[in-house]
Order: sequence, then C-alpha cells, then structure tokens
Amino acid sequence: MSSRTFITGIAASFGIAWLAVIVVPYLKMRDLAPAPFKESTSTAGIFIPKRTGRIADGAKVYAENGCYLCHTQVVRPTYAGNDLYRPDWGGLKDDEARGDTRRETNAYDFDGETFAQIGVSRMGPDLSNLGRRLDALQAKGVDPEQWLFLHLYNPRLNAERWNSNCPPHPFLFRKREIKGAPSASALPVAAADGFEVVPGSDARALVSYLLSLKKDQPVPASLDFSPPKNDGGS
Ligand code: HEC
Repeated sequence: MSSRTFITGIAASFGIAWLAVIVVPYLKMRDLAPAPFKESTSTAGIFIPKRTGRIADGAKVYAENGCYLCHTQVVRPTYAGNDLYRPDWGGLKDDEARGDTRRETNAYDFDGETFAQIGVSRMGPDLSNLGRRLDALQAKGVDPEQWLFLHLYNPRLNAERWNSNCPPHPFLFRKREIKGAPSASALPVAAADGFEVVPGSDARALVSYLLSLKKDQPVPASLDFSPPKNDGGS
C-alpha cells in the first residue's frame, strides 16, 4: 500500500466519523425547541414528598423489616409491563383537583432517600402511591393512620382482608396500662382489663413514611415517558 493511499484512508475514516457523529447530529438538532414543562410553571399545589425527620426514620424501619421483599415502589416503564391500567398504582385516575395523575416512576422520585427501595418481588401491591390510596380512604371517613396501625399489627383483623398474606408486626406495638383516659391511637384489639395496645415509636415512624408515599407529582415532559392516558385502560 502506498503511503498516499494510507493517508487518504485515514483521512476518510476520520472524515466520515466526524460527519456522522458531529456534523449530521448538529444539523439535525440545532433548531430543536427545548422540551416544555407541561404543567403550569408554578409549583403551587404540587406535592413534593418530604424525606427528612420521622419520614426518613420510617424508611429505615421499612428496610429493617424487609417490607421491600414483597412490596415494590416502581411503577414500571410501560414497555416493561403496563402498571398504569391499575387506576391507583401510578397515581389517581380521578384526582378531584388534578384529574388523572397516573405516571411511571423516574429516578428523581427517590431524590433525598438513602436507599431507593424499589423492592425485590411483588407479593403485595406496589406502594409508590400508597399515600394517595389512603387519602381516598380518608374521603370515605376512615382514619388512614389508624388503618395502617391496625394493618401493621395484624392485617387479618380487617374483615375485608381476612386472608391477607402481609405478615403481622405486633412487636412494633406495646401493651401498657391505661392511666386516665385511653390513648387516642390505642388499637381496637382485646387487651387485659385496664391495658391497651399502642403503637411504639418505630410503628409511628413507619406510618409517617407510608403516608408520605406519593410519587405522582407532575414532571417535565422530558422525564415523562408514560403513554397517552387514554391508553391506560380501566
Ligand atoms: C411476605 C410478603 C410481605 C411482606 C414481607 C410485607 N407485606 Fe405488606 N402485603 C403483602 C400482601 C400479599 C398484601 C396484600 C394483602 C393485603 O392487602 O393485606 C400486602 C398489603 C400491604 C398493604 C396494603 C396495601 C394496599 O394498598 O392495599 C400495606 C400498607 C402493606 N402491605 C405494608 C407493609 C409493610 C409496611 C411491610 C413491612 C413492615 C410489609 N407490608 C411487609 C405482603 C407482604
């Protein structure tokens, strides 16, 4: 091979690469408009979950007790399996103030958490938007905090969940003697005369964490790959 062919060869290889990776993409993208933020520019009314204090303590209790072994916190990208057809997993289908808030999970949903507790298996329901479902319960007159305490103590005490496979966690509660008026957060369970069952500090922290699980706040269009809402079904 003559040195001239060699130099032409080198020049062509670099030239083609330069055209393909620099010039062509530049020509294609130089006029693109920035992706718009679909919602109004103000963040008023948008819930950005708090991830400090008792909620962060609750996340630890969640991890310590292996809740993540059976509960995910990922509303999957639709190409990997549609979760949005469940009206209450990716958000609420009919939020009174905001309409249909269902969307897929993105990495920023775990911002500020020590661990992204995406979960190991889905024996139980996804908890990404548990807080929203509990809000809906509250609208029906149920106290979400008390509902969770009873569920954690023993899920089967809820008549609708008599065959629940969520393990009971009675060790997060303690029995104590009633002194004066009974505690407002005492569980409706039988205890010896003059005694009541009340949530311990771990149960309280865990419930704060569970109530805070709301991952359906609007995100910029560049982060939201959810399919059009009318494809979500149900
Ligand atoms: C062995 C698997 C398993 C583990 C571990 C587990 N759960 Fe569950 N969980 C389930 C199953 C199954 C259900 C569905 C049945 C029911 O609603 O009780 C459920 C339901 C729930 C629900 C009701 C969700 C809803 O939207 O109806 C909550 C809240 C919950 N679990 C919280 C927890 C917490 C907190 C922990 C850890 C302290 C935990 N679970 C550990 C299996 C598990």
